Parts: sequence; C-alpha cells; structure tokens
Amino acid sequence: MAASSVFRQGLFNHKVAIVTGGGTGIGKAISAELLELGCSVVISSRKAERLEAAAQEMRQKIPPSSPASVTTVPCNIRSEDEAREHVKDLVSSVLKRYGRIDYLVNNGGGQFSSPVEKIASKGWKAVIDTNLTGTFYCCKEVYTAWMKQHGGVIVNIIADMWKGFPGMAHTGAARSAVDNLTKTMAVEWAPSGVRVNAVAPGTIFSKTAMENYKEFGPQLFKMSIPLIPAKRLGVPEEISSAVCFLLSPGASYISGATLRVDAGQSLYHALWEIPADCRSLLFSSRGHNKPFSMGGDHGHGKM
Ligand code: ADE
Repeated sequence: MAASSVFRQGLFNHKVAIVTGGGTGIGKAISAELLELGCSVVISSRKAERLEAAAQEMRQKIPPSSPASVTTVPCNIRSEDEAREHVKDLVSSVLKRYGRIDYLVNNGGGQFSSPVEKIASKGWKAVIDTNLTGTFYCCKEVYTAWMKQHGGVIVNIIADMWKGFPGMAHTGAARSAVDNLTKTMAVEWAPSGVRVNAVAPGTIFSKTAMENYKEFGPQLFKMSIPLIPAKRLGVPEEISSAVCFLLSPGASYISGATLRVDAGQSLYHALWEIPADCRSLLFSSRGHNKPFSMGGDHGHGKM
C-alpha cells in the first residue's frame, strides 16, 4: 500500500490542543506551530495578561483561510478543583467552547536553583506540585472528561535530568517522575486509543529563560555551549517540531517513549561544571528559601 506523507499543510485542521505554559518560551513555539498546522490551541498559564498578549500576537499570524483559533484560559495547574481557575475548569471550558480535545501538551512548570540542603519544604512542595502533580491533574482530567471515550495524544515536556540535576534536585525528581508517569499512562490508556509520550529538551535558549536567570543568564547559556556536541544552544522551535511529530499520525505507533531533543548533549556531558563546594550551586538572584514564584512556561535550562 502506498501511503502518503502525513506532513502537509492542514495536518491538524479542526483538531484542538491544550498547551499549558503556552504563552512563553517553548510552549509558545509549540502553540504557534500547531496553529500553523491548522490546530485550534488553548493556551493556559496563571498569568492572564501575558497569556492574552501572546494570543493576540499569534492571532495575527493565522491566515484567514485557516480553521484554527487561539484562546486563553488562565489556570493554576497545582489545583485540581479547589482554588480559582483550576484544572477541571480548564478542561470543561475547552470542551464547552470546542466540543473536543485532541491533544494535551504539558509544558507549564517552573523551578528555582538551590543545593538540596537549602531547599525548604515550601519550595520543594511548590516545584513538585507544579511540575509533577500539575501534569498528573491535567492528564487525568483530559483523559476522564474526553480522551477515555474518544482517544487523543498527550506529550509531557520534561528535562535533561538523566544524570541527576545538581542545583535543582526538586525539578529533577519531578521530571523524572513524569517520565515514569508517561510510561504508565501509555500502557493503561492504550485501549482507549490514547498515546502518551515525553520530550526531554536539552539547553534551549529563549527570552523567557534568559529573563528568568536575570544577570546570570548570558553566562549560563555561554557556559553550556562547549558542553554541547553540536556547539550551539537549541531554540524553542526545535522542541516544537518534535512535539508536533509526536502528536501527529506520523507517530501513530509511538507511545510510552521519551524523545531527547538535545543534540546528543545528555549522552556526552553534564550540564555544567560541578564546583568543589556544591553550596555555590545557586545561580539565581532570588533567595533559595524565599517564597517562590514560577514562570508561565516550561523552565528548560532555567536555574
Ligand atoms: N506555570 C508555572 N507555574 C504554573 C502554575 N501553577 N499553573 C499553571 N502554569 C504554571
């Protein structure tokens, strides 16, 4: 049988995706590429204003002939159904508006840098709640409310935590757990026609990530380059194309997989040099035990 390639214009026409952290960095690139392929995208994060500004920008690029639209739904993924703007509301409002959810991209997250011994319980819980539990809530709700009956595809964005994550143990533990959760959901939900995969980005340069590191940003990114076999940083669009592939029918027989999109970096070297005293593994200008605020997008390479 001669099959034609799935990669063509309109590939995702009339499909609907939720992208958490879809207003900035990697999530914004994923949302923009899905829109370009004809998919309607609901971008979600806690910061309503920033979300709306990103949506406006993306709307201007949608050609008039496209069936795609972009909508914003503010949501705190740490809350299943308790606080305002919780995950159950996100999923029900998407179903109310579009009547379907074909794809879920769990990209929203955040972390701060600190050596293990200095991570306070509050900061630990915040990172685990967002990066692990938030992903679990979104997957579970999208599955029970729609995909269990209709099928669908989920992609979880994780990290290069394969050799531990010195300086950010909480996010390393959470992303590693999401890697494992991905496999379990892939097996349990296969009978419903649901595929679940993960993408593990290497060091990706984005304006959001740079801003997150404040004055340490330029040096941190520069420091990574010699450690990357390709001798350059990745860009958000290089993660987005991998995510779109995994969502597409081109990946119809791929489930439970984690795709490392890091130009071989994780095979070769650690992310950065380990100082003699790990207590100096504090790159952020924020105090490590201060109340914690997290960015609206997935914090790859964030420290
Ligand atoms: N991005 C970072 N933290 C988040 C949260 N709690 N909810 C949604 N998106 C987020």
